[in-house]
Amino acid sequence: MKRIVILISGRGSNMEALLKAKLPCEVAAVISNKADAAGLEIAKQHGVATAVISHKDFANREAFDAALAKEIDRFKPDFVVLAGFMRILTADFVNHYAGRLINIHPSLLPAYTGVDTHERALKDGVKIHGCTIHFVTADLDHGPIIIQAAVPVRQDDTAATLSARVLHEEHRVFPQAVRWLCNGNVRLNAHGRVETDRLEQRGTTLISPGLD
Ligand code: GRF
Repeated sequence: MKRIVILISGRGSNMEALLKAKLPCEVAAVISNKADAAGLEIAKQHGVATAVISHKDFANREAFDAALAKEIDRFKPDFVVLAGFMRILTADFVNHYAGRLINIHPSLLPAYTGVDTHERALKDGVKIHGCTIHFVTADLDHGPIIIQAAVPVRQDDTAATLSARVLHEEHRVFPQAVRWLCNGNVRLNAHGRVETDRLEQRGTTLISPGLD
């Protein structure tokens, strides 16, 4: 069975969705860069090993990433899953896990890379927003996309209501992406493109606000 290590920085609701999803892999550990991340408790309740590597203990990004990689590799994971891990990673770290590192981002990439995605989507007045699971490359929030979910942006949305609608979909598509990965149904090829097999293209058009 494949092994994964999940990295978090906070609440850990996406990590929890993965732990509850009965995935075809063993969650070998949950590692946080923050000792007070609420997700660590949730991981412990699920009987998963936890560790904290605080970025504040290191002089620079390179030293932190090296220590983080060392801790991750103790658990010998096949894949490393970023689930709300709020640190920018060095190219060395990313390359070390090439094709084995995925991230969840709360926007329809390549729109709204970085932070405050919901606030920026509302400010721009887009009518469709969503989330993305992608392979991580050195180009922040630009890695090859595995799956996306789109939601309507409603007239009366606040960042909180929009975020909740997107998060609901995050909890659905993230376990799906990890399942595909662990079953070998999706991979990054030598040209840096996502290859999938046996995946049906289903679903309907999302028109927002909708036709009369
Ligand atoms: C999620 O919206 C995720 O997409 C983003 O940070 C948030 C983390 O939430 N990268 P949680 O810790 O998984 O609850």
